Amino acid sequence: MSELSELAAAVRAHVEWLVTSGAAGVPRDRSGASPRAAAPNVVETAPNVVETAPNVVETAPDVAQTAPDVAQTPVIVQPSPAVVVAVPGAAAGAPAPLLDVSERRRRLELLAERVKPCTRCALHAGRTQTVFARGTGTSGLCFVGEGPGADEDAQGFPFVGKAGQLLDRMIEAMGFGRDDVYVCNIVKCRPPNNRKPEPEEMAACMPYLKEQLELLQPEVMVALGATAVQGLFGTTEGITRLRGRWKLYGGRTPVMPTFHPAFLLRNPAAKREVWDDLQAVLRQMGRQAPKR
Ligand code: URA
Repeated sequence: MSELSELAAAVRAHVEWLVTSGAAGVPRDRSGASPRAAAPNVVETAPNVVETAPNVVETAPDVAQTAPDVAQTPVIVQPSPAVVVAVPGAAAGAPAPLLDVSERRRRLELLAERVKPCTRCALHAGRTQTVFARGTGTSGLCFVGEGPGADEDAQGFPFVGKAGQLLDRMIEAMGFGRDDVYVCNIVKCRPPNNRKPEPEEMAACMPYLKEQLELLQPEVMVALGATAVQGLFGTTEGITRLRGRWKLYGGRTPVMPTFHPAFLLRNPAAKREVWDDLQAVLRQMGRQAPKR
């Protein structure tokens, strides 16, 4: 009899572990920022696989002129996530304390407060205020840009200037509400004259972004421009080579690199490629753009 109850306890413990690790049947809770289990089984394969799309022409106002007839499709398999998250900074492999959505939100707010007085790099001297993030992220989608410009520095939110208005149209064309996606940057302070952040400025700010993303647990990310990809992955390749090819952040979060909206303002013809990339993101999320 005691052998039987020991066996039952072992089975219960195993099932609980499967649930908390996201390996088994916990429904996704989209009431808060995208919840993800710690280290799900993300598999990245065959980056060059292409699939032929039907010969339809779709349009996304001011984002793409025409849809491509060939789309690159990542083979990224993710199990259904649980409503739990590893505490940032927890040692790899250590049992992860569990945080629910409201606790992760609370910690994101605390992190934003911690960032406000930051003097880790020289950029703090020229800022009006730090620029942490905008949006709830309830859709599971997170955009990462380069750093605040003049408008963002003045208003305290990322992507509120001209490039931000184009980003908003892209978000809308994807079928999301502006506030359903999370938007943040590699650096939280405005570089002078909107120059690219220096490597040491990015390195000083990255621990904040890392913690931010660990708390947010996005389902999918979009890296806007070369600096965003460089900050997230340390790559030095140009965005033209990088865009449209899935990468994995932290071993588990699919990231689609694409052109920065500011580049699109100068090169509107590239909107078509960005729209291809955003459609790949939607496919990865099991969605498609609304018909117009
Ligand atoms: N460009 C960025 O990369 N980030 C912003 O917040 C604004 C413009």
